[in-house]
Amino acid sequence: MEFRYKKIVFLTGAGISAESGVRTFRDTDGLWENHRVEDVASPQGFKRNPALVWKFYSLRRLQASEVQPNKAHVALADALHSLEQASVRALLITQNVDTLHERAFGALPNKNFIDIHGTLSRSRCTKCNKIFSDRWAYFNEEQQPAERHADHLWSNPSLTNLLSMPRRNPQGIPLSPCCSDLLRPDIVWFGERPHGVENAIEQLTSCDLFVSIGTSGNVYPAAGFAAVARKAGAHTVSINLEPTENSAAFHEHLHGLATEKVPDFLKKI
Ligand code: OAD
Repeated sequence: MEFRYKKIVFLTGAGISAESGVRTFRDTDGLWENHRVEDVASPQGFKRNPALVWKFYSLRRLQASEVQPNKAHVALADALHSLEQASVRALLITQNVDTLHERAFGALPNKNFIDIHGTLSRSRCTKCNKIFSDRWAYFNEEQQPAERHADHLWSNPSLTNLLSMPRRNPQGIPLSPCCSDLLRPDIVWFGERPHGVENAIEQLTSCDLFVSIGTSGNVYPAAGFAAVARKAGAHTVSINLEPTENSAAFHEHLHGLATEKVPDFLKKI
């Protein structure tokens, strides 16, 4: 297969998962499932009340496990595979923590993937930062300590450091097998440094096509990626339901549903 571009960077946000049934951020009045963002998505919130944070993320793991990748996730996973076969360099950067890209990859290699805001399917030791693949829900829907498996959060056989049910402290907070200190979700919270930004910037400054999908362009650094790529000479495309905060950084705007626009667009590159 022949492609027009030599190096492509895709960026996705909550809009790509909306049709799978995952809620986007901007329509929730700054509240996530009735919690203030700073209580459940900040290091200070975790320090104040780790049980509340684990109740919140346990529920999100269970919810994410119940939804499926949609046509847009699958088309992107297939495109990454075809591009790699054709020696076109491609990178997928996502702001989503919902695991749907990983699940659309299935057993396909996904080394060209950066989850800059982390993922629901990993936990991290607060002492030594060791990362674990983790699909346990430590609290149930009634916010009681539980030992539930969010079964569909992953099925990739090549994952490492799979966490069997860890020990928990008297509040029900999981403890790391390495240091017996608190485990936390491997999610990038407000005030923390996103994962893989140096690598992302390096790829952005040398790509010839940048495609943003389903992100409102509100949260940096991702909101600035289009401008970086454009300045470096890339053609920039936004696929979104509506104009975004950073619309001016795009040469081309495709307004509509991700499940329709993404597969159509990918056929043309
Ligand atoms: P937002 O909720 O801010 O934006 C989602 C965008 O997707 C909006 O512009 C919608 O118009 C668009 N959209 C919704 N449904 C769509 C569909 N079916 N097809 C195409 N587009 C659709 O989500 P993000 O931009 O991802 O950060 O938010 C960025 C970050 O802000 C998140 O990663 C999160 C949040 O605070 C952290 O968790 C650190």
